Amino acid sequence: MYKSVIRPILFLFDPEKVHHFSFTLIRIVSKIGLLGLIRPIFNVEDKRLEREVFGIKFKNPVGLAAGFDKNAVLYNELSNFGFGFVEIGTLTPKPQDGNPKKRLFRLKADSAIINRMGFNNLGVFEAVEKLKKEHKVLIGGNIGKNKITPNEEALKDYMICFDALFDYVDYFVVNVSSPNTPGLRELQDKGPLTRLLRELETTNKKMASEKSVKRKPILLKIAPDLTNDQLLDIIDIVAETKIDGVIATNTTIERKNLKSHGLLLEEAGGLSGKPLKDRSTEVIRFLSDHSNKAFPIIGVGGIHSPKDALEKLDAGADLIQLWTGFIYEGLYFGQENKQSNPRPKSVNDYLVQ
Ligand SMILES: Cc1cc2nc3c(=O)[nH]c(=O)nc-3n(C[C@H](O)[C@H](O)[C@H](O)COP(=O)(O)O)c2cc1C
Repeated sequence: MYKSVIRPILFLFDPEKVHHFSFTLIRIVSKIGLLGLIRPIFNVEDKRLEREVFGIKFKNPVGLAAGFDKNAVLYNELSNFGFGFVEIGTLTPKPQDGNPKKRLFRLKADSAIINRMGFNNLGVFEAVEKLKKEHKVLIGGNIGKNKITPNEEALKDYMICFDALFDYVDYFVVNVSSPNTPGLRELQDKGPLTRLLRELETTNKKMASEKSVKRKPILLKIAPDLTNDQLLDIIDIVAETKIDGVIATNTTIERKNLKSHGLLLEEAGGLSGKPLKDRSTEVIRFLSDHSNKAFPIIGVGGIHSPKDALEKLDAGADLIQLWTGFIYEGLYFGQENKQSNPRPKSVNDYLVQ
């Protein structure tokens, strides 16, 4: 139904407008009490799906990736779709509009998206207000820096976000890998990255001790465009700074093996979806193998089917996340065994088989 009826209609319209429309629709459906009715359809309650990763118990390993609910407005509602965790953000200290529109493009022939949103968000303090309500799902807080903040002062921005979100999120993600904030990826270099993570971890321990609570897990989100030498540096940095793990990967600036053509390919920004799948899996495998599984990895990039999800887990991911696959495939990820099992199947259904 989603792929044959709903998606073709949605794809007639501008992608960013569809995103806002979907949020409004989910909010209305939730207000009139219908969202609870769909919860049993999408949620798979099964002990075999449970995972304990970086000290947190996840009810299943499938999360919604950052950038979908940037301002933490719909995390509870989105949890009804079966996600074990929802990552909000990327949030910056000050609100910012992001890049001029149009900045989100569908590459239908490739089941992909190019985006150059540029951390459009209402700012971390607005998100904190939204996070003050009860949480029905585990929440990751993905943090970044404002565009106007020079890299030399980036630490201050990450600290402001870390401090503001500390009481409201279950884990943190340090995003230094978006291709859409000029210069941001330079923070992935060994020197600045080690300093940034070391300072955050020091603050983490200090805040935890002052509040008499546990420190929050800190993960680093990396680009798929790093070289093997840079990935080896990442392994060293994780060990040295004692952060909790890595999210691999963000979107890519590569434009390889694409079927789409014309002006679309010339759009600047990060590419996500199917063409990213193999590279992100390769990065996960490299990190897992070369670190001897020293730290947990959240695998993200091009998961459009249960097979893709299993591939990421086999490569060494402990948890996975989706973004573009959610748009292209909906939530069912195929309807095999329709005769014997008329209920549509989610990724989690396949993971317990
Ligand atoms: C429109 C859009 C906006 C995104 N915004 C963010 C963001 O703000 N922060 C972030 O860490 N990743 C962001 N991402 C990257 C995703 O979280 C994910 O890492 C990437 O899209 C690869 O996964 P996918 O192929 O399943 O989409 C964004 C992706 C898209 C498509």
